[in-house]
Amino acid sequence: MTERSVVAMADIEAGSQGALLQIGGVTAGYGDVAAIRGIDISVGEGEVVALLGPNGAGKTTTLLAAAGVLPCRDGAIHWRGAVMRKPLHQRARAGLAFVPEERGVIRALTVRQNLEIGRGGVDATLEHFPELRPLLERPAGLLSGGEQQMLVVGRALASQPKVLLVDELSLGLAPLIVERLLVALRAAADDLGMGVIVVEQQARLALQTADRWYLFNRGEVTASGDRTVTYEDFETIYMEHMLGGSHSERA
Ligand SMILES: Nc1ncnc2c1ncn2[C@@H]1O[C@H](COP(=O)(O)OP(=O)(O)OP(=O)(O)O)[C@@H](O)[C@H]1O
Ligand SMILES: [Mg+2]
Repeated sequence: MTERSVVAMADIEAGSQGALLQIGGVTAGYGDVAAIRGIDISVGEGEVVALLGPNGAGKTTTLLAAAGVLPCRDGAIHWRGAVMRKPLHQRARAGLAFVPEERGVIRALTVRQNLEIGRGGVDATLEHFPELRPLLERPAGLLSGGEQQMLVVGRALASQPKVLLVDELSLGLAPLIVERLLVALRAAADDLGMGVIVVEQQARLALQTADRWYLFNRGEVTASGDRTVTYEDFETIYMEHMLGGSHSERA
């Protein structure tokens, strides 16, 4: 056994079993401020994990640390059991895709051209979102918000990542389209074994889809659970946790 494989095995034991991506005790932030502290979240094959919580709670920061955009001040990102220190573009090659909040469409290019730039191509995207077919020759800037999100999420799914991180899936979108997007993420997990971490403001929809959820409050995960939770129970948990801090927003 090489020295390298011994190191890898030690890391596997340190990581959570079977996790594709593990955010292990991560503290990260901006300047001197730690925006997230001691975050522990993992996603395995075929799992959808939802990150929930009020504005400024640390959900985006967590994804940025997982994607390698922000360094970990403490803790580490484990990728299939080994510590991952690569920058974002190398993580993408390893199979990590990240859909940030600002939907990365090139507005002047057509939908088809936007998809051709992606790693997965046009046909593979249409398999996830056939709704895009009649829109292929339209400039992406003329799509509705929901159509743009289908383009961006579909393009990411088409690249066949092992793990997909999606920030603010539903920003500015109607519940019907959010449901459609969540169905596509669920299908990618169920049919392709993809691991998905999604930040979602509409907790009711997220809880219907996700296998597990984590509630963020002021830079920490203060509650988590699985799909056995009802929305009513979650609302109670949410209120208790927000009232315990200085926030009083609702899910
Ligand atoms: N670029 C930045 N520079 C300094 N502080 C930042 C920066 N981005 C975020 N923060 C701060 O870090 C904390 C966590 O922010 P983050 O964006 O992770 O929250 P969030 O849960 O994604 O919120 P939202 O639901 O509004 O997107 C907040 O206090 C925020 O003000
Ligand atoms: Mg955010």
